Amino acid sequence: MNVEKIMVIGAGQMGSGIAQVCATAGYKVILNDLKQEFVERGFAVIQQNLSRQVSKERMTSEEMEAILGNITASTDLNDAGQVDLVIEAAVENMKVKTDLFKQLDEIAPAHAILASNTSSLPITEIAAATNRPEKVIGMHFMNPVPVMKLVEIIRGLATVDEVYKTIEEITIRLGKVPVEVNDFPGFVSNRILMPMINEAIYTLYEGVATKEAIDEVMKLGMNHPMGPLTLADFIGLDTCLYIMETLHEGFGDDKYRPCPLLRKYVSAGWLGKKSGRGFYIYE
Ligand code: NAI
Repeated sequence: MNVEKIMVIGAGQMGSGIAQVCATAGYKVILNDLKQEFVERGFAVIQQNLSRQVSKERMTSEEMEAILGNITASTDLNDAGQVDLVIEAAVENMKVKTDLFKQLDEIAPAHAILASNTSSLPITEIAAATNRPEKVIGMHFMNPVPVMKLVEIIRGLATVDEVYKTIEEITIRLGKVPVEVNDFPGFVSNRILMPMINEAIYTLYEGVATKEAIDEVMKLGMNHPMGPLTLADFIGLDTCLYIMETLHEGFGDDKYRPCPLLRKYVSAGWLGKKSGRGFYIYE
């Protein structure tokens, strides 16, 4: 299948990164969010990232302008009527995603593939909200998108081979490494990562050590590039909570119970780096 035009939904941490790598690979990208200011914020992040590449002489300013020229802003979902592929990166909430996919199914051309960047939600259930479940697939990028090589590709129950192959080829064209996984809560990445982060939060909650000590132990002792609490701030504590709830509900096992401290931080609006405060404070 020939894909030239892509709509990315959600101009947050992930959506802006996905739009950047797609535009860099030469795709025409429509970056969509609920409000103009959200799209502009995403666009500013892309501009900043690319400017850094120019100042490090990894890219010319003409190349930067060409990449930025590949991206157009949108606050109207009807713009999906012009694209071959939609990559949804809105919040990690099943209702939001199924509402979006229902609308996209009506708007997008019949040949268009509808992909979700969900971190944990069942692709089969998102696909069932549409009349084209065979063209719905999970395309799970890692954060920060321009840097991280992995894309987990998740087949829903009905996803056809041709759609899988197309997404695999696009992933490679983006300079990423595709890994195929089956549709279970949290897939592979977050089924393993998120319980570790949740346990780190319990460790803090129970007063076993300070946040700095917990992060230092995991960094120096396990050779992780950053501690789990720093990583949680980086991912977004709301996203961490949504993922733990998906694992808890999906497997029905209390070993996935979200730590009450995580809930408390999210209720306070301490969402991590993106809100300026999580376990740590950010400028
Ligand atoms: P974020 O909070 O930075 O951005 C979400 C964006 O979606 C916001 O700008 C919001 O206004 C927008 N949005 C919400 N509802 C929308 C709608 N109906 N239409 C259009 N835009 C809408 O969140 P982030 O971190 O970018 O996460 C987005 C998705 O990516 C989630 O599903 C998350 O699980 C997934 N993900 C997150 C990773 C992370 O490390 N943060 C890693 C991989 C996947």
